[in-house]
Amino acid sequence: MVIQESAPAKIILFGEHAVVYGQPAIAVPVSSIRARATIDPDASTDAFTVRAFDVRNAPIPLPEDNPLRTMAKMTCAALGIDLPKIVLELRSDIPIASGLGSGAAISAAITRAISAFASCALSDARLNAIVYETEKIHHGTPSGIDNTVIVYERPVYFVREQPIQTIENERPLQILIADTGIPAPTKEAVGDVRYLYDHHPQRIPQVIDAIGHIVRQAREAMKSGDLIRLGALMNTNHEYLKTLTVSSPELDRLVQAAQQAGALGAKLSGGGRGGNMIALVDDATRNNVHQALSEAGATHIIHTTVEPTQ
Ligand code: PMV
Repeated sequence: MVIQESAPAKIILFGEHAVVYGQPAIAVPVSSIRARATIDPDASTDAFTVRAFDVRNAPIPLPEDNPLRTMAKMTCAALGIDLPKIVLELRSDIPIASGLGSGAAISAAITRAISAFASCALSDARLNAIVYETEKIHHGTPSGIDNTVIVYERPVYFVREQPIQTIENERPLQILIADTGIPAPTKEAVGDVRYLYDHHPQRIPQVIDAIGHIVRQAREAMKSGDLIRLGALMNTNHEYLKTLTVSSPELDRLVQAAQQAGALGAKLSGGGRGGNMIALVDDATRNNVHQALSEAGATHIIHTTVEPTQ
């Protein structure tokens, strides 16, 4: 029987970058867009083979030592098995280098598929640890938030090296995710913030602390269902991210367009410099904000809802 495993995209609602320095962050899965890994145990091959396909199902050429192969090797090492003689096929709807957790989702899907093929049951905690190791390939010093929200596929209040905490959410959060269309590697943005942090000890640690304070307030606003407050906190979080130099003219244009069109709040999401921004909307503002984002140059817009906790 063909094995098919998958993992979702994610967005960070609050606290990216500051989370690297021990502050909390809030992230939610986006289950409608996913990375998928397929293994047909009956397909014959005499070596481990990875094939990747784009959204139109056209093959993506891969060099021999591609990172997907490295991820598979790391998975097998963690499971204590040899690289099996299989064809591993990968498909993903998640744009790469855009702040939606593509790397962690692909890695989680690969690890799930290989462990299912090898009949090695993996707990979420173990899977999370393996995906975290592969995240280091893309990020250098990842906080662990991407792998955690993607593996557990539920909203998380995340603090580095602490057990995951869930979020209480009183009201549905409607979010538009808009892509600048500009890929931006997280590793560079994280490295630049580290440089600032080390060279401006009077200023930058304060900004990081202020972001942490926003995240704690956002957790309370989600708990009480105060969307107006939550939106205002998103706007302030974006301003702090600008101070950390991780926004860009394109992100600022989309954030401003969303705010002017009536979004409750808007900010970049993820590593920044490009990639995606998010806007908090409601039934009354959703269409206007969608149109404004598209007119301001968004290349792709996704609507997602974070459901209330039961
Ligand atoms: O670009 P993304 O979505 O992978 O975001 C990474 C989030 C950062 O806080 C910027 C880095 C990290 O490791 O937490």
